[in-house]
Amino acid sequence: MSEKCFNLKIGGAFFEISPHETILQCAYRNGLKIEYQCASGYCGRCKMRLIEGRVRLEHAGGISRRNIAKGFILTCCTFPKSDVEI
Ligand code: FES
Repeated sequence: MSEKCFNLKIGGAFFEISPHETILQCAYRNGLKIEYQCASGYCGRCKMRLIEGRVRLEHAGGISRRNIAKGFILTCCTFPKSDVEI
């Protein structure tokens, strides 16, 4: 059985992303450099705004509730649950 993948839109570019892949991993796999440091949800360096879509954010304290409420995510620990645009 094949896994259902989603579409990830970053800027004007579209990529196919697995529900088990982070947005940061997908970007690098496709040659797109997003700024990051810890890649573990601690530092907050990879923070970007979620424009559209549903995601699962598994951070380790690198983003405040306030920023999450404003629509920000940490790309290193965010997995898609639908088509996503950032
Ligand atoms: S790179 Fe550190 S929180 Fe994502």
